[in-house]
Amino acid sequence: MKSSFLIASTLMIVLNCMGQVQKRPLSIIPEPVSVVEKQGVFILQNNSVITVPNNPELKTTVDFLQAKLSTATGYKFIINRTNSSSAKIHLELNKTRNKELGDEGYTLSSTAQKITISANKPAGLFYGVQTLLQLLPPEIESKTIVKNVKWQIPAVEIKDYPRVGWRGLMLDVSRHFFTVKEVKQYIDAMVRYKFNMFHWHLTDDEGWRIQIKSLPKLTEVGAWRVEKIGNFGEFSNPLPDEPKNYGGFYTHEDIKEIIKYAEERFVKVMPEIDVPGHSLAAIASYPELSCTEGADKYNVRAGEPIMDWSHGAPPIAMLDNTLCPANEKVYDFLDKVMTEVASLFPFEYIHVGGDEAPHNYWEKNDQVKALMKREGLKTIPQVQAYFEKRLEKIINAKGKKMMAWDEVLEGGVNESTAVMSWRGMKYGIDASKEGHFVVMAPNDYVYIDLMQGDLATDPPVYATVRLSQTYKFNPVPKEANAKFVLGGQGNLWTEQIYNIRQAEYMTWPRGFAIAESVWSPEGKKNWNRFIEKTEVQFKRMDNAHTKYSPAMYDPIVRVTKKDDKYFVNLSTEIDGLDIYTSFDNSTPDNFYPKYKEPQLIPKDADLIRIITYRGNQPVGRLMTISVPDLKKRAR
Ligand code: ACM
Repeated sequence: MKSSFLIASTLMIVLNCMGQVQKRPLSIIPEPVSVVEKQGVFILQNNSVITVPNNPELKTTVDFLQAKLSTATGYKFIINRTNSSSAKIHLELNKTRNKELGDEGYTLSSTAQKITISANKPAGLFYGVQTLLQLLPPEIESKTIVKNVKWQIPAVEIKDYPRVGWRGLMLDVSRHFFTVKEVKQYIDAMVRYKFNMFHWHLTDDEGWRIQIKSLPKLTEVGAWRVEKIGNFGEFSNPLPDEPKNYGGFYTHEDIKEIIKYAEERFVKVMPEIDVPGHSLAAIASYPELSCTEGADKYNVRAGEPIMDWSHGAPPIAMLDNTLCPANEKVYDFLDKVMTEVASLFPFEYIHVGGDEAPHNYWEKNDQVKALMKREGLKTIPQVQAYFEKRLEKIINAKGKKMMAWDEVLEGGVNESTAVMSWRGMKYGIDASKEGHFVVMAPNDYVYIDLMQGDLATDPPVYATVRLSQTYKFNPVPKEANAKFVLGGQGNLWTEQIYNIRQAEYMTWPRGFAIAESVWSPEGKKNWNRFIEKTEVQFKRMDNAHTKYSPAMYDPIVRVTKKDDKYFVNLSTEIDGLDIYTSFDNSTPDNFYPKYKEPQLIPKDADLIRIITYRGNQPVGRLMTISVPDLKKRAR
């Protein structure tokens, strides 16, 4: 009795210890609705059976799972259409709808014997699969076979469903062009975090990227510009002898390919055709769309200044980048464009931009003045509303609904126009109360083109939105009429983003914060846990070859001025980091004095170097900032 007790308890201790060694804290992003951890682990084995009902809608999900598991492990998985007792991973659609889960929720149960994912609809199973992958080690994202795989999945009971139905990211492919392969790569990263909406910003001053067969010049002329590299927005004007060979466009076949790829991953694709402003590429192709003389000399913008924002919004345009609202040819043009867009994109909404249309050319234009008189329009925003209402009719006639940026509210558009609130939450809140459907994409939380780190490491953009700020995003604020809030999304404008690696760097980890804001229950958000999970996700990103920004480890540098003295104030965005500095041009390490209080910039210093450590490990990037640059930051 005594000895068997001893053996049993020794075994327990050994097993427990094994468990302890192996056990990783769960690091699922976005945080599920409920997770109950159990005793035991499931061990992933070669030749395991995956069962899935014989339903063509589930094919892509099971293919996705099989490909992912096999690529990293080298194992074979046997797909079975009936739930045999030998099944190790079982996907099932609920026979009776589980109301709580809705169309995108799922339950995941793992025991030592078996993993079962259940959902009402295929999308739920896909999200359950994403969670399952996050229960495996980060190496599951590896693109090649990982050696010595002995992977365990902890025993858990998970119930999960999204907070909102619209969980999006926008990619601007106009300012810089991204190939079909790169767009797919962007979508691949999105789906790991249960995003379901890809907003494709296809046209702007810097390039028209969608083939319109009835308007060939849009892509013969409008898709190409002079290539410039540096600080976009400050470039010199393109010269006649500079080749216009930068750009590209998507053919109808490319677009169908992307839509299919996204749909197989339960991502909808919303096209954006940005009018009446942001239309220089269209005007360079068809100058008759403008009502300003000289438009036939316009070029697709290459990053030279065209708007003066020094007076605030709306900007003063230095050239007229608007489609003329008083020109019937414009509505014929839009009809042709929307015919092809509507036939290509299955999604119910077409986004028509409507942002930042300058007033100054319309104010002085005789055709616009005549239109105002004829239609009884008192203000320029009303002129824009006239344009938007006509455009909405065109779009409705193609069987689609219209969405636009929040500026369109100013002149009074139809209630049926859905609104994307970007100038903060206010417009979205007000619009939801007026009965417009709304997507929240406020620039002060989810504009992921804005800097997340310091100027010493990131390209200059006019403002900063750090990860901690993005994490505060609440897509359904209590002031809004929640019934009309479709959801939320992050926006990646690409003026300063020249390649897909930088697009990823700007998106992640802020994309994690957006994912958790739009999926997880508000009360489940927890900044410190989020950071722990983010660090695990970084390892997944490394394996997936997806770039991300480590800015959360870097010091935050502020400068204050008192009398004629300047002080450097340092802090960190996340807990547990120490900061070390030098003004003597040397590289500081953790044996330098730890930063404790604002540091006076020594009179003759040239620069500061700053680095953060966690214990004895450097974690932040070494930042070097010259004293003149520090002084420019003084408040
Ligand atoms: C926008 O950021 N102009 C919608």
